[in-house]
Amino acid sequence: MDKILIEGGYPLSGEVKVSGAKNAALPILAACLLTQGNSVIHNVPSLRDIDTIKRIMTLLGVEFGQQGHTLAVNTENVQHHVAPYELVKTMRASILLLGPLVAKLGKAKISLPGGCAIGARPINLHLKALASMGADMYLDRGYINAKARRLKGIEIFLDVPTVTGTENIMMAATLAEGTTVIKNAAKEPEVQDLAYFLRSMGASITGEGTDTIVVEGVKELRPSEHNVIPDRIEAGTFLIAAAMCAGDVLIKNCKPEHLTAVIEKVESAGATVGVHLDYITVQGPEKIDSVDIKTMPYPGFPTDLQAQFMAFMCIADGWSMIRETIFENRFIHVSELRRLGAQIEINGAQALVRGQKQLLAAPVMATDLRASACLILAGLVARGGLTEVHRIYHLDRGYEALEQKFQKLGAKIWREKS
Ligand code: EPZ
Repeated sequence: MDKILIEGGYPLSGEVKVSGAKNAALPILAACLLTQGNSVIHNVPSLRDIDTIKRIMTLLGVEFGQQGHTLAVNTENVQHHVAPYELVKTMRASILLLGPLVAKLGKAKISLPGGCAIGARPINLHLKALASMGADMYLDRGYINAKARRLKGIEIFLDVPTVTGTENIMMAATLAEGTTVIKNAAKEPEVQDLAYFLRSMGASITGEGTDTIVVEGVKELRPSEHNVIPDRIEAGTFLIAAAMCAGDVLIKNCKPEHLTAVIEKVESAGATVGVHLDYITVQGPEKIDSVDIKTMPYPGFPTDLQAQFMAFMCIADGWSMIRETIFENRFIHVSELRRLGAQIEINGAQALVRGQKQLLAAPVMATDLRASACLILAGLVARGGLTEVHRIYHLDRGYEALEQKFQKLGAKIWREKS
């Protein structure tokens, strides 16, 4: 297995371009199943998770063409409806195929996504909503079997504003009979980007970005063309990295309005952040002030940047309290940060970080996608040798060429292929 090696202590400077958003591209590719024909999706990041959903969709009968970050998606001959365990187990977001398949084909057989390092991640709200829309659903030997002649619009209140749950229901509702009202809907930019794409296909959707989304079902949708939004979590990762490494960095091709909560916290830690139409500038402070964060649904501080911000607070001056409210087990990176000398005490959903003058290089192991980014950021500041980050297949799921992007900013970082 590949590993990434880092010689820490070098300031970051220069420009970095953010790739397209993984968590927008995944539902948008799934949404192509709602029509027959050729859709074109631009700014699709080159990631393992994108490769996985393409492999599953190819099994369904979808044909892909690719030029750089543009995908041509031909759904003329989709007639299969099974998403197999071997592929679904590597990417939980495969559940996003459920809504479109039931809505368009009238049937779906999707492997239940298994457990995940950061939490149980149930999909009860996805299943409950589709059942309420009239789908016959049953679980059989690890697979969700669903079928419906034509789904019916419903009014549903989500116990939690689930992101992929909102996306699944929204996609299913576009072809349902009647109106669907999703209350306590997720407001994430990725949900909004999916709504824009669905509307360009002829769907009737209003309210995306608020907690109430209304979908009027239509008879059919048409293929369309779309430009995926920039990845706010990648942009936030670079924002935090630059603030940690006394950097002077310009983060281009991003939407600063998607990062308001993160920018506020990075500025509170002492960084100087310049916000522009489609780029952010950041100068890291000499002295890093400790800052408390609490992860919340959008527009709050994103859980997907909690681990990266924790790495930042490990070298702050003072104590910071980090509260994780979205997932029940998203502190796995703490034990690896401690190997680098971090002082962190966990008490349930809270982690108390006592900032150190510096971290010390050591071998560490990535345990999930965002934890791997956290360990790379810690390695960028760790002294006294090389930090080795093992099991970086986690990283490749959600970051495109991250080490090359950091190299261009002056970091001493490289990948060692095993
Ligand atoms: C999406 O996951 C993202 N993934 C995650 O990003 C992100 O961390 C998460 O939203 C929260 O923002 C994609 O968009 C592909 P949820 P999702 O359903 O939709 C509970 C990354 O690193 N819940 O919003 O699976 C659940 O247990 C990944 O890119 C139910 O109880 O997250 C959790 O506590 C990691 N029942 C909370 O809701 C359900 O039916 C939020 O989960 C669904 C969710």
